[in-house]
Amino acid sequence: MISVAIDGPAGAGKSTIAHKAAEMLGYIYVDTGALYRTVGIAAIRKNTDLKNKAELKELLDSINIELKFENGVQKVFLNGEDVSEKIRTPECGMMASAVSAIKEVREFLLDTQRGLAAKNNVIMDGRDIGTVILPNAQVKIFLTASPEVRAKRRYDEFLQKGVQVKYEDVLADIIVRDKNDSEREIAPLKPAEDSVIADTSNDTLRQAIDKVVNIVKETLKTKRVIV
Ligand code: DC
Repeated sequence: MISVAIDGPAGAGKSTIAHKAAEMLGYIYVDTGALYRTVGIAAIRKNTDLKNKAELKELLDSINIELKFENGVQKVFLNGEDVSEKIRTPECGMMASAVSAIKEVREFLLDTQRGLAAKNNVIMDGRDIGTVILPNAQVKIFLTASPEVRAKRRYDEFLQKGVQVKYEDVLADIIVRDKNDSEREIAPLKPAEDSVIADTSNDTLRQAIDKVVNIVKETLKTKRVIV
């Protein structure tokens, strides 16, 4: 099986770029942020005190998360309920960032992620895919862009979905989340040593997708992986 790990900060365009690249390569695209967001929405609904280990355990024991793929589109289910859209709010993003810093949560989601890569050719996007989840991925890409460019992209996404937000708030959120995600003790956001860094600040979407597809093809060729 081929695994392509794509890591990088919030709003680098990972999901859009990875999704399209997966389509072009014929791999399934796994958005692991959705898993953390789903734990986040469950914690919001249960009003879980994340610092309380007993409450955290109760939360994790009470949730079952499944990823399903419909025409190549990932859907995420929380105890049978399709929450794919509901997890896309800024509130869930913040909560996802909070739960993702907890060791028990990361362990809870580990098997789901590895299981998918064991059975399918995947492009998996997240924060620690190349470093922790799939350290043996044949291709590792660290996708990034400046905070301002990332905030603008996120802002446009929210507007398109009809979510009312201010650009300044989106930028502030991105800066806080970058800090949370890169300074946390477990699985901090950082490029794997053997990753290719791709900065998409000055790329159009089309250019960024082509960049990723080319990195995948070139890396597999260099490593002589038979596809
Ligand atoms: O990519 P996203 O915005 O959907 O991610 C939501 C949060 O989940 C983000 O703050 C970081 C966290 N995350 C993580 O820690 N590890 C991953 N593999 C994916 C996401």
